[in-house]
This record gives sequence, C-alpha cells and structure tokens, in this order.
Amino acid sequence: MFAKSSAVVSRRRRPPGYATELEQMLGGLTIRPVVPQDVDRLRAEFESADGETLRMRFFVPKPHLSSGDFERLTTVDYDRRLAITAWDGNRPAAIGRFEPAGDTTAEVAFVVKPAYRNQGVGRELIEILATAAADRGYQELEASYLAENVAAAAALKAAGFSRRSAESGVVEVSRSI
Ligand SMILES: CC(C)(COP(=O)(O)OP(=O)(O)OC[C@H]1O[C@@H](n2cnc3c(N)ncnc32)[C@H](O)[C@@H]1OP(=O)(O)O)[C@@H](O)C(=O)NCCC(=O)NCCS
Repeated sequence: MFAKSSAVVSRRRRPPGYATELEQMLGGLTIRPVVPQDVDRLRAEFESADGETLRMRFFVPKPHLSSGDFERLTTVDYDRRLAITAWDGNRPAAIGRFEPAGDTTAEVAFVVKPAYRNQGVGRELIEILATAAADRGYQELEASYLAENVAAAAALKAAGFSRRSAESGVVEVSRSI
C-alpha cells in the first residue's frame, strides 16, 4: 500500500538518520532521500525501464537485481551510503546515489527517466550528492559510464569530473569535493 503521495515522507516513515535537510523542490519535482518504503515503487520503475536506459546505468540491457539488491538500494544509512530520489507526484523521475569506494572516496551513479532529461535534473542530483558526500567526510567522487554514453560524459564533465581511465569501453572519472 502506498502513501497518498510518495513524494512526501511522513515523520513516522523516516528511518533513523533520515536526511531531512536534503528535501527540496526542483521545479515541479520533489527531491528527497530514499526510504525503505520506496522499494516496490522503485522496483516497478526498474522493471518497466527501457533497455537502453538500463544498459547506460548498469552496462547490460537486462541486469538482474534480486529482492535483496532492491532492499539494499532503498535501505541506506544516510551517511556512508545515500540515495536521493526525485518524484513527480507519485511517480519516480530520477534517482542518484553514492556508495563508499574507499575511506574518503565515494562512487556516484544516477539515472533520470527519459521524459525528465535535459532539464537540469541530473545536474542537480549530482550537486546534491556532491555536497552531501563532502558534508559526510568524503573528499573525492568517482563515477563510471560506457564510452558511448554521451549524456553521462557531458553531465559529469559539466559537474567538474575529469577522466581518470578508459578501459574495455568503460570510462572512469573523478572529482575532488
Ligand atoms: C546522464 C543523465 C543522468 C543526464 O541527466 P539529465 O537530467 O538529462 O542531465 P541535465 O539536463 O542535468 O544535463 C547536465 C549536463 O549534461 C549535458 N547533457 C545531458 N544530456 C546530454 C546529451 N544527450 N548530449 C549532450 N549533452 C548532454 C547538458 O547539456 C548539461 O550540460 P550543462 O550543465 O553544461 O548545460 C541521463 O541522460 C540518464 O539518466 N542516462 C541514463 C543513465 C546513465 O547514463 N547514468 C550515468 C551513468 S551512472
């Protein structure tokens, strides 16, 4: 059963550590940290996503994510691991996350639904994640994308990432924060 609007997290649904200060509006979208109750909604989005979007995000057109994977994606500590969602009412429009990749380095990944692209949503998610990661003690962000992924290359370059390596069709970039 979903709450009336998935965009709003009532006090009782906020897990320990929930980062209320990251809640904000972006145009008509509500941006907020992920909560475990998002699991069914985000799994449905994943299952209905187009193959090209999935390939750009996960590098394969039909990634297999188990129930445990979805629980892990939606259950974060809001400190070392954080995910931010953007909602158009009850519909997810985008998600971005970071995970530790070292003591002071976090790996970021993000996806914006095709209907919401080229409107600055990706740019905003990256900046929110970068600020949040810096506030939590990380000093560097890294990201990887398929070499053919022009949009990710442009979005990450615009966000100040620079190329570290390119191997087997995968580009790795990083940025100090
Ligand atoms: C990559 C992605 C997140 C970009 O999201 P977006 O909301 O469309 O990006 P924005 O509108 O915020 O644009 C950010 C910058 O990238 C540029 N950009 C975005 N898409 C572009 C494209 N297809 N071609 C050229 N430049 C592009 C924008 O011009 C903007 O640059 P600016 O800040 O200098 O104006 C989105 O295309 C996506 O979800 N792709 C599939 C998943 C993916 O590739 N994830 C990244 C790997 S983890």
